Amino acid sequence: MSINSTSAFHFPAPLDPVELTRDLKLSRVGSAIICFGEIGSTNDYARRWALDGAPDGATVFAERQTNGRGRRGRTWESPAGLGVLTSIILRQRPPGSDVACSLWLPALGALAVRDSVFRVTGLVPQLKWPNDVYLGGRKLAGVLAESPGLGKPVILGIGLNVLESPSRGRAGFTPDVASRSTSLWQVLNAESAAASTRTQPVKNGRDLRLNVARELLTALDALYEKWLEPGGPEFIARVFRESLSTLSQRIVVHEHQPTACWEGTAVDLLPDGALLVVDGAGREHRLTSGGTSIRHLA
Ligand code: BTN
Repeated sequence: MSINSTSAFHFPAPLDPVELTRDLKLSRVGSAIICFGEIGSTNDYARRWALDGAPDGATVFAERQTNGRGRRGRTWESPAGLGVLTSIILRQRPPGSDVACSLWLPALGALAVRDSVFRVTGLVPQLKWPNDVYLGGRKLAGVLAESPGLGKPVILGIGLNVLESPSRGRAGFTPDVASRSTSLWQVLNAESAAASTRTQPVKNGRDLRLNVARELLTALDALYEKWLEPGGPEFIARVFRESLSTLSQRIVVHEHQPTACWEGTAVDLLPDGALLVVDGAGREHRLTSGGTSIRHLA
């Protein structure tokens, strides 16, 4: 039986460091873990912890954030206990690399989300530039990388929707978020209702969230190790470029300062992570993630 919006919904037990890492072989990510019931923002806590000497890979989880942040000043909303809200402190850089290589750390986060979702559910999320994770045309996860300064640790914040429903009262997204977001719970139950043989209905939300969080630690640890090897940044950039669903797409570009909106075709991902877009007049534009957002045209 699948859970639907009228079923009694049992909030999963909080994530805890012992269960998160039981029998996992992690090199750096998850070297220390702290889990909060409620906190302002896991990124803010991780930043303070990094300045206080937290080890490389130290990881913060929260059941709920009162001040969860997204990119470009947006908020990140998730009802308590339903998503994976985490921030990981990444201190190391590949030998001989320049500071610009840190631009690829958000890509590590997006790839790790994609890999963890696939391993737990068999679903294959799309990666949308700059580092959003989509499933069925809606946003499943976002990545916010922040740093106190050049050469300082990077705080990799990841918000991944797991058990949120569009219409389950306090277990649901707000209507605004529901219109553009999705969760694993929604997609798995929609697929199982459509009699897909590929996915199972969600019977145990607690296990789903815990397993996704464990696979996220595992996938990010493996990608971080790879990135730290000689040639690692180039390897990750290549994998990310090959995985990006935005390339060859018709897109709508929203520029924020000054405000402008136009259509074009995404043709390439440049070595610094910028997106190369050709507009209707054949002109090339180099988009940076700070100044623009994009939408794929169907
Ligand atoms: C985005 O897509 O705009 C990025 C969203 C990032 C949200 C996560 S949730 C955990 C971490 N703490 C925050 O305050 N933000 C990130």
